[in-house]
Amino acid sequence: MAIVSREGVRYSDLSGNPVVKETRRVSREDIVVDKGGHRHFMLKEIMDQPQAMTAALKDRADFANSPADVMQLERVVLIGCGTSLHAAQVGRHYIERLAGIPAEAESASEFRYRDPIIGPRTLVVSIGQSGETADTVAAMHLAREKGATLITICNAEESQAARVADGALYMHAGLEVGVASTKTFVASLTILQLLLDAETTRRLVDQMARGPGLIGEVLAEANLYSSLARRIGHYDNFLFLGRGANAAIASEGALKLKEISYIHAEGYPAGEMKHGPIALIDPEMCTVALAPRDDLRDKTLSNIKEVKARGGLVVAVLTKGDDEAASEVDFPLFIPQAPDLLMPLVTTVPLQLLSYYIALLRGCDVDQPRNLAKSVTVE
Ligand code: AGP
Repeated sequence: MAIVSREGVRYSDLSGNPVVKETRRVSREDIVVDKGGHRHFMLKEIMDQPQAMTAALKDRADFANSPADVMQLERVVLIGCGTSLHAAQVGRHYIERLAGIPAEAESASEFRYRDPIIGPRTLVVSIGQSGETADTVAAMHLAREKGATLITICNAEESQAARVADGALYMHAGLEVGVASTKTFVASLTILQLLLDAETTRRLVDQMARGPGLIGEVLAEANLYSSLARRIGHYDNFLFLGRGANAAIASEGALKLKEISYIHAEGYPAGEMKHGPIALIDPEMCTVALAPRDDLRDKTLSNIKEVKARGGLVVAVLTKGDDEAASEVDFPLFIPQAPDLLMPLVTTVPLQLLSYYIALLRGCDVDQPRNLAKSVTVE
């Protein structure tokens, strides 16, 4: 169990004996969080994702930004670190597609040290679970100095990010204890879809209301991932491939695997494979490809065939019923058909579960991986 107080998180066994000490400051209130019957907080937080999405949606449903305000914007720049950077990369696709405004995503740690061209008609959106990541907060100060409009998407209320920004959109995902971000990633993506004008938001809310159910369908098959982990958990090299918004999900899948299981993993846009990573493919390399039924599915399927032709092992996230694609891969992982915009929220879940079960199999400390802190408050 974890006891969360002003001083941070304290772990204890069921008799109250301390297990691990933490110094993270995460809440003003004293609250008790348990694992909800799961072995680790990470698994509980993965399982909590339908509720996290519902909570994020509920808050945004009343959002009333005026389209006129949005029309004044020249550009949107999304910044974050780690998993929050991957959310920014997905967000870029959403904003360009839904609002037709040029958008870019950048690591806050890079953004803060260059001289970005931004001004009053630039909307800078910072993303962060903690709202305390040093690089993200510093990048926000820079954006503010340059006169950009600045909003933050964060989970922790009263965080530094919330104080620096002109406005804060809270995830309401509840406390995330596991160092690996999971439910706050899904909450970030939810808010990013509903970021700009009220009309689009109203139109999308109905479609997005399907999201928690779709994520729930993947979670209901969690045991399959445990079995798959036993088949592939001994591989020491993984390549994650995806296209479009799923390129960011591939990066997120690789980050999850490396941070909790200490396995070397790379996330790559599938179209980039032929420009270098293809040289790595051999029977020792496990490729995890995201190829759900969408406009880019056929292109990714071609990449899968290239990997198979070179003797690589392929795990692929595919849409249920896509037997043609399934016949090309070693291990298909089926997800339900989802609207394009919801797809990244659904494709991320199999990768979280796979990472979790591989880390478990390897005996890693899933909730508190070595060398990592939940919030990186120093450079
Ligand atoms: C995610 O699993 C990582 N623990 C890490 O990359 C994290 O997302 C990053 O440090 C940013 O944290 P933030 O979202 O609190 O800003």
